[in-house]
Amino acid sequence: MQKVYEFLKDAGTYYLATVDGDQPRVRPFGTVHIFEDKLYIQTGKIKPVSHQLHANPKAELCAFNDGRWIRVAGELVSDDRYEAKVSMLDAYPGLKKMYRADDDNTEVFYFKNAVYTISSFTSPPISGSF
Ligand SMILES: Cc1cc2nc3c(=O)[nH]c(=O)nc-3n(C[C@H](O)[C@H](O)[C@H](O)COP(=O)(O)O)c2cc1C
Repeated sequence: MQKVYEFLKDAGTYYLATVDGDQPRVRPFGTVHIFEDKLYIQTGKIKPVSHQLHANPKAELCAFNDGRWIRVAGELVSDDRYEAKVSMLDAYPGLKKMYRADDDNTEVFYFKNAVYTISSFTSPPISGSF
């Protein structure tokens, strides 16, 4: 999981895919944080991405950096605890202009049953799960 975290931090931006009925949806995301040994992302409850994850937690993300790319597939589980949100916002102080841990919108999700692969054209893939 640490490897995944570092890859996504270094990449800066990843692309998060969700399921919307029979239609895949994908968008750029940047938040990634480790809290209580789980990999978290952050969004807003008002966003379609949040509605999609509540209807179907299956998600996949992809990022590319420095000749390597990563895919992480799993379920994203909402964690409504105040302390999980505080931890995320402390890691991204810039978000505090838009979000508060005790507002009705801030939401964090952690990966469950995640599998990842880091690939490149020049080295064998590295896979794992967390
Ligand atoms: C580089 C970049 C990083 C972003 N990171 C996030 C993020 O971590 N969380 C988030 O909710 N939105 C983030 N956004 C905004 C979402 O991409 C945007 O709100 C998108 O429309 C959400 O998807 P949805 O409309 O399907 O809900 C980011 C946008 C960009 C350009």
